[in-house]
Amino acid sequence: MSSFTLWITAVLASITTGTPLLSAKVETGLLNLDVDLQHVDSSIKSLFLPGSPNSNAPGNTTSRCKIYPGDPEWPSDKAWSQLDVLTGKRLITGPTPLAAVCYPGKDYDAAKCAGYTTPVWQRSYVHMDDPIEMMSPVAQGLTCSIPSLYDSKGCTRGGFPKYVVNATEPKHVQLAVNFARNTGVRLVIKNTGHDFLGKSGGKDALSVWTHWMKSIDYIEKYVDEKLGYSGPAFKAGVGVQAFEIYRAAHEKGKVVVGGEGETVGIMGGYIQGGGHSPLTGLYGTGADNVLSFEAVTADGKFVVANSTSNTDLFWALRGGGGSTFAVAISVTVKAYPDLQVTASRFTISSAVTGKETFWAAIRAYVDSFIPNADAGTYTYATLIPTNGTFTFSFSPYFAPGKSKKEATALLDPFFTSLKDLGIKFDPNVTHFDHFYDAWRSSFPLEAVQKPNVATASRLFPRANFETKEKRQEYFDRIRASSENNRVQVHFNIQAKDPSNNDNAVNSHWRPLVSFSMQSVRWPINSTAAEILKIRKDFQAGDMQSWRDISPGAGSYLAEADRLEPDFGNAFWGDKYPRLLELKKKLDPQDLFYAATGVGSERWRVESVDGLPNENGKLCRVD
Ligand SMILES: Cc1cc2nc3c(=O)[nH]c(=O)nc-3n(C[C@H](O)[C@H](O)[C@H](O)COP(=O)(O)OP(=O)(O)OC[C@H]3O[C@@H](n4cnc5c(N)ncnc54)[C@H](O)[C@@H]3O)c2cc1C
Ligand SMILES: *[C@@H]1O[C@H](CO)[C@@H](O)[C@H](O)[C@H]1NC(C)=O
Ligand SMILES: *[C@@H]1O[C@H](CO)[C@@H](O)[C@H](O)[C@H]1NC(C)=O
Ligand SMILES: *[C@@H]1O[C@H](CO)[C@@H](O)[C@H](O)[C@H]1NC(C)=O
Ligand SMILES: *[C@@H]1O[C@H](CO)[C@@H](O)[C@H](O)[C@H]1NC(C)=O
Ligand SMILES: *[C@@H]1O[C@H](CO)[C@@H](O)[C@H](O)[C@H]1NC(C)=O
Ligand SMILES: *[C@@H]1O[C@H](CO)[C@@H](O)[C@H](O)[C@H]1NC(C)=O
Repeated sequence: MSSFTLWITAVLASITTGTPLLSAKVETGLLNLDVDLQHVDSSIKSLFLPGSPNSNAPGNTTSRCKIYPGDPEWPSDKAWSQLDVLTGKRLITGPTPLAAVCYPGKDYDAAKCAGYTTPVWQRSYVHMDDPIEMMSPVAQGLTCSIPSLYDSKGCTRGGFPKYVVNATEPKHVQLAVNFARNTGVRLVIKNTGHDFLGKSGGKDALSVWTHWMKSIDYIEKYVDEKLGYSGPAFKAGVGVQAFEIYRAAHEKGKVVVGGEGETVGIMGGYIQGGGHSPLTGLYGTGADNVLSFEAVTADGKFVVANSTSNTDLFWALRGGGGSTFAVAISVTVKAYPDLQVTASRFTISSAVTGKETFWAAIRAYVDSFIPNADAGTYTYATLIPTNGTFTFSFSPYFAPGKSKKEATALLDPFFTSLKDLGIKFDPNVTHFDHFYDAWRSSFPLEAVQKPNVATASRLFPRANFETKEKRQEYFDRIRASSENNRVQVHFNIQAKDPSNNDNAVNSHWRPLVSFSMQSVRWPINSTAAEILKIRKDFQAGDMQSWRDISPGAGSYLAEADRLEPDFGNAFWGDKYPRLLELKKKLDPQDLFYAATGVGSERWRVESVDGLPNENGKLCRVD
């Protein structure tokens, strides 16, 4: 058992029995002011204390921006090295971007650089284990990419943080939170770095890196009367990723609600942002399945947030978005019995079918959206334009709980239309006894984003598919987007919460039938002004066209564009007013910030190139 597992178990025991914390492990797990800070020089001790900064604390500044190197308030070397000592030498100073090996300078290493071929670089494995790398290079500011993808003409840290606490215990998080709050230095939280919008980075920030909080404990019977739940659960450290929790669940004959992507940080940003899953059609979003959080709050305290304790925080953390209300330490989620799955993959191309036949096939596909969503299935369909030809794939169609016969019956109307159109296709319909095997063989390892792409999304409700006219209208818009060269991904799912929890999950998920994404691409050598124009035109053009036919619908905060207009309503719907109130209450100083996060209207990253990215100071908007 890891020390993390041990302390969590001990903390749990002490919580449930009400006894004082006895285990030595617990004492090293939580910040103990008397013990941990006893040797800290009095001149800097206040930087590590919990609570609101007193009037003398440097963090209580009226500065317009967060505190940056060069500012008189920037912490001394002595203060930083004290943070290193207190965190058990877990502070990483000036972390080097991976691609620095490709550029002249002290890190240059031609052999290592040659190892970063495009396919290697684009695998999420390379970036998820790194303290600072982000899978959204555009949002990082593109200051250190591999030259074969994007020549950044040198390597600078750009939107990457300057210091990283490699946290494995709550104490490490508490110290970083206190230090950032008391000094005014920008705080960021990175887990895997999957965030589309770059919310796991920030120039010259202090980053809490949660990736190595990997404990997983199985709880055979978790009872919460208020939530109406009695059944199995998993308690996981926030660093736990999809492939880890799915495997652990499989070993117990269970499943949990997690994403499709293999390396997504299920217990980090995913679950706090809502989180859709191959199982969402049956069990709701990731956040709907949370029973409890352990977290470090903005004032540096370690708390439990559940249905009876810190209930506001519990509400907000379930859907309100990462890096906004607290740093989560662990999450306890419901587990369900393992189930059979039938999955299907196939591709058709307009190069083979001819254009009009291809589009007739896509039009027919839209007719199957409501029946499939109602059946609880999950379709990940791609629609990709390449030089005037179009490809459509089930990548895959995923029917949890369905036998091959049941899934085939659901697919039959669409497949019959394809046959009637004379299209030759070879759908591989495979039955799996276990969810884990189906998931492993159905979904590709996700790639890191390209350096010249921005993605935006729309949560299309049932109303868009209820009549033939409405389906035609939706089809016309997605076809027009394709013809405008937009890469599209369509998740045909329902996202109702069978337990009807009251939480912060975007109300726009509930009537969902298709979660649709499209991406705009620009020439790799475009200037900043050209990119900004292309991105704004995309929002005013193809995205507006999707919004126009779905008035009052929203977008998914975790797979979205930083330029999404009216993001509060789009990402949270009718939950937004309460979330704004809770942000003021739970984080009055805006210690936590995430671009397009709740309350982020008060701040802006003043990026060096004027593009929406993390390469600049975070400053108040006057
Ligand atoms: C290839 C790919 C596949 C994806 N598949 C899915 C999918 O199937 N379903 C789905 O719903 N989404 C999916 N997503 C989107 C995914 O949910 C988000 O990218 C999510 O933010 C990832 O969380 P993370 O912790 O792994 O990433 P990070 O980028 O490390 O963190 C994301 C955000 O959460 C914050 N955060 C992380 N950990 C904590 C914590 N412990 N406490 C407080 N804040 C925290 C970060 O500061 C950041 O703002 C996918 C994304 C990619 C790139
Ligand atoms: C900051 O200091 C002022 C006094 O200088 C005090 O009134 C205020 O409450 C302090 N702010 C915080 C957030 O502690
Ligand atoms: C971070 O901590 C983990 C767990 O202790 C360790 O395995 C890893 O090497 C550390 N990473 C860095 C970059 O320090
Ligand atoms: C919530 O957490 C508190 C504090 O740890 C604990 O006493 C309580 O039993 C928990 N509530 C439920 C429903 O588990
Ligand atoms: C698309 O067309 C361009 C120019 O005609 C060509 O260079 C490129 O290789 C083509 N791409 C594909 C994937 O066919
Ligand atoms: C069909 O898919 C299954 C599971 O992904 C795979 O094992 C099998 O080889 C595929 N069959 C064909 C004919 O491609
Ligand atoms: C980008 O490259 C293309 C062709 O390689 C060229 O026509 C164009 O002028 C370049 N644009 C800029 C801004 O350099």
